[in-house]
Amino acid sequence: MKIHFQLNGKDIDADCEPQETLAELLRNRLNLNGTKVSCEVQVCGACTVLVDGLPVSACTHLAYEVRDRDVLTIEGLESADGVLHPIQQAFIDEFAFQCGYCTPGMIMSAKALLDENPSPAREEIIHHMDGNICRCTGYLPIVKAIESAAQRTKEAKA
Ligand code: FES
Ligand code: FES
Repeated sequence: MKIHFQLNGKDIDADCEPQETLAELLRNRLNLNGTKVSCEVQVCGACTVLVDGLPVSACTHLAYEVRDRDVLTIEGLESADGVLHPIQQAFIDEFAFQCGYCTPGMIMSAKALLDENPSPAREEIIHHMDGNICRCTGYLPIVKAIESAAQRTKEAKA
């Protein structure tokens, strides 16, 4: 199948099989390996990307379903001049990862939250992130990183 969509702000024409997942399209055909795949059954959140601003599990979302939609992956967060997104920088500053395998999905989920709610309470962060599993860092640094990113974004806009 031939599909057209927006990927990280660029127009993309791609071929995909009807049963091909968005994660397979991104990783295998478009060489965007930032999106990780772990459970492959929509449980762990490692493969989270945004489609029209909403978080989806790319491991189960079929590639053709993004036809004419707007897809954002971890590779699309950095600015054109190489400055990391505030959420990316906050994850670094708060030591919110160890192996880093869950991190792209965590950051994309956090972006969806902060886009919708720029000042979430800690309970709202924990509730929103409960679909993202981390096997090695512990969740407190991740929550703190998201709080820090929210604060930085607020200060940058003030
Ligand atoms: S790899 Fe997609 S949710 Fe786990
Ligand atoms: S940093 Fe290793 S799984 Fe989260």
